[in-house]
Amino acid sequence: MSPCKPVGLVTEFLKNPLGLETTEPRLSWRIEDTRKGACQTAYRIVAASSADKLAAEEYDLWDTGRVESDNTLDIVFLRGQDARVPRDARAPRQLRSRDCVFWRVMVWDKDGRPSSWSETAHFEIGPFAPGDLSAAWIGSARPRTRAGLPVPMFRTSFHLPAAPVRARLYASAFGNLAMSVNGCPAGDDLFVPGWTDYRRRVPLVAWDMATLLRAGENVLGAMLADGWFAGTMVWPDHRCHYGKRTAFLAQLEVEFADGTRQIVVSDDSWRYTERGPVRDADHYNGETYDARLEKPGWDAPGFTASGWRRAVVVEEPERPHAALCGRIAGPVRRQELLPALRRTEPAPGRYVFDFGQNMVGVPRLTLRGRPGAAITIRYAEMLNPDGTLYTANYRSAKSTDTYICGRAVGASLPVGTFPRNVRSVKCPPETYEPRFTFHGFRYVELSGDFASPPECADVSGVVIHSDMPQTGRFECSDPLANRLWSNLNWGHRGNYFEVPTDCPQRDERLGWTGDAQVFVRTAAFNRDVAAFFEKWQRDLADCQFPDGAFPDAAPDVLGGGGRCGYGDAGVVCPWTMYLMYGDKDILQHHYKSMAHWLDFWQGVCNAHGVVRYDGGIWHFGDWCAVDCPVDENGNPLCNMAPTPSDLLATAYYARCAGIMAEVARALGKKADERRFAALRRKVAAAYRREFVTAGGRVAGDTQTGYLVTLGFGLVDDPMTVARMMDRLAFLIESRDYSLTTGFLGTPLVCPVLTRFGRADLAYRLLQRREYPSWYFPIVDGDATTMWERWNGYSSKHGFGDVNMNSFNHYAYGAVGEWLYETVGGIAPAEPGFRKIRFAPIPGGDIAWARTSLATRHGTASIEWRLAGGKKAGIEVTLVVPPNTTAVLELPGHVPRDLSSGRHRLRLH
Ligand code: BGC
Repeated sequence: MSPCKPVGLVTEFLKNPLGLETTEPRLSWRIEDTRKGACQTAYRIVAASSADKLAAEEYDLWDTGRVESDNTLDIVFLRGQDARVPRDARAPRQLRSRDCVFWRVMVWDKDGRPSSWSETAHFEIGPFAPGDLSAAWIGSARPRTRAGLPVPMFRTSFHLPAAPVRARLYASAFGNLAMSVNGCPAGDDLFVPGWTDYRRRVPLVAWDMATLLRAGENVLGAMLADGWFAGTMVWPDHRCHYGKRTAFLAQLEVEFADGTRQIVVSDDSWRYTERGPVRDADHYNGETYDARLEKPGWDAPGFTASGWRRAVVVEEPERPHAALCGRIAGPVRRQELLPALRRTEPAPGRYVFDFGQNMVGVPRLTLRGRPGAAITIRYAEMLNPDGTLYTANYRSAKSTDTYICGRAVGASLPVGTFPRNVRSVKCPPETYEPRFTFHGFRYVELSGDFASPPECADVSGVVIHSDMPQTGRFECSDPLANRLWSNLNWGHRGNYFEVPTDCPQRDERLGWTGDAQVFVRTAAFNRDVAAFFEKWQRDLADCQFPDGAFPDAAPDVLGGGGRCGYGDAGVVCPWTMYLMYGDKDILQHHYKSMAHWLDFWQGVCNAHGVVRYDGGIWHFGDWCAVDCPVDENGNPLCNMAPTPSDLLATAYYARCAGIMAEVARALGKKADERRFAALRRKVAAAYRREFVTAGGRVAGDTQTGYLVTLGFGLVDDPMTVARMMDRLAFLIESRDYSLTTGFLGTPLVCPVLTRFGRADLAYRLLQRREYPSWYFPIVDGDATTMWERWNGYSSKHGFGDVNMNSFNHYAYGAVGEWLYETVGGIAPAEPGFRKIRFAPIPGGDIAWARTSLATRHGTASIEWRLAGGKKAGIEVTLVVPPNTTAVLELPGHVPRDLSSGRHRLRLH
């Protein structure tokens, strides 16, 4: 038998997903085989409707037989490699709602020898067919019209004749739902069901309940907070963006050994109370929790719900007309626990704890106080010079939690919190972890009526974000570059929270398209974000305007769209997913909507073929550029950066037309490919006529202007390119080797300089320590995340303009892709890293770098080290994953083709 092993089986990018929306999911695996040249030559997938049948080789759902193919990715269930081919005739029937599929795969290796079977994977189709669910949307009687309303708790009790062999709980909510079963959380996912455009669709979540139910009485519990649906959104007084009535739906489906079934649904027989412990909960403003009002055992059998009222069925139009959809991406979950490292007391009775890391999530606290004692929990990303919290940059977000002590000894914990230690009887320690809010912070301040002051051991930070496993690693001989990598990775973690947000702490936290678009490639190096972007692309498409404009933020809560470098996310992000993961489906699915974005651009061009100056489109432009004009108070006017917006808009129009030509090519749409390529040529020509002089000067004469012109390939004449590069270099040198770029220009700086032969300048900018630069916030401000502005804080001038001073804003972290690709040296040579380009360009004073990336085919890695002395040269150790090939390109050496396996080279 072959040593080759198929491993890492996933369905639609997820491990053993439940509640899939599609009945034709894509199956993928990778092979493990360390031999040189390892590859797959054939595969066989088998699938059965139960694990037992699969084990007994009774493949009642699908058996592909041996398929001669080296492909391990995105094989469409019941169809095979290509979604367009008809269903496999050997498959008895199409999948339906609730079908559970167990599958495994075996492969044939490079020598044609078969592997053993993989482990078994499974997936399940959710109940999305019409009439599949009989549950009603229910809620409390009170509309959520104002802040400060308690979070209602709902319960129902039911009897089961026996313990089930199979049980699924399906739930959805207009609000932030926490469900429990017999006192246990239904799942470890938070902020259920996630954030979509609730006016159009809302996810249905599925959990396996079999082990939580038993014969006899059982109880389902639910707490329903306002969440994105009805909580504060964007501006201080703006609540109930999607509706005033929060509601949820739950359907528990139980199967017994004798084949009988029982269903429990949400309806008006459920009881609820508003007298529970969560008195108020809001994402921006925080949570108020009164432990004296806990209802021990409320979501378990044996509880008497006296005084609880009947739940109210919430019908349309009191709730949105939204379709239930599958949850495409991994949920938001607790990911890591950080200890508090230091405690200070800058003012009497105010204890400030430092996690040493700016993070997103909530604290987990052990508090001691007399019943009724109130403890205030405040947060900050930075400290004032006197050691107190700097909170002005949260703007109107109060970001304050309050805990009122008094949990009854021995009481069960509220949903989602953790066991506590009950020792002292007088003021027993009480554990609190806010459940319906989140904060962006490095520091937590506790103040109030403590029985004994909290110590570091009483305080930890629960890091929360969307599930997206780390895939990229980068390390080199420059500790500041390593810190920069860590900071952009933390910035990424804190801001991928259901949607790619701009910032996690102030009154915003939105899926800003511009920020997402510039960072997407870096994100796909850092972590597995394939499913995350499948989901967000849908959010974008859901909010696309009739004229083709993509919104400024998705889900769209602002109502604007069509801004250059922002709406372009609708084309750039799916294209990046294809390049980084080989995901053609995202292109296929969204092809029309991506193409429609070009219609939008077309519609706002003038007679000369460039985006109009006037036209009424207000662009954000090169947001936050260093050279923005300032207002009378000295605060920067970010949208008035010196690079003309119509130039940027026309450049992006050309870029997206070019991407669409590539997309059409990847999908085999030849006529469209020609059409888009011609459009790109036309727009690029118009761009040159309007914005580029015969001598190669770009209108505005800014670094960003040259960067987009070169980076998007808008000039190709070598002489003009050379002149532009000279001018760009001059604009950098004349600013004492610093950049003046904003959100749109900065990501292009290092890649463009490198591509056109000035990697030396790119390294000089990277390693610069003075303002403005990537290292400045680290050296001068001890930054542990990326900042919205280079000088959000400086030791010389203190804090920057408070209106826009996020200390967790990843846009400038887009330099990450260059760290991975040029300093480290890993890039895709073919979509999805089927072929890898190892092309490090050593520079600056960096003597070695070690980089790895878990691609969908396995982990690729490269370590290079400059060898000094007489035998000066470079040592390179590489791992090419099985089933891929690679090319090694080193400056001054001819490219070398490499097969899969480990390679060590020393070159002089
Ligand atoms: C956000 C930015 C965003 C911008 C758009 C800001 O408030 O935080 O990151 O790109 O608005 O203008």
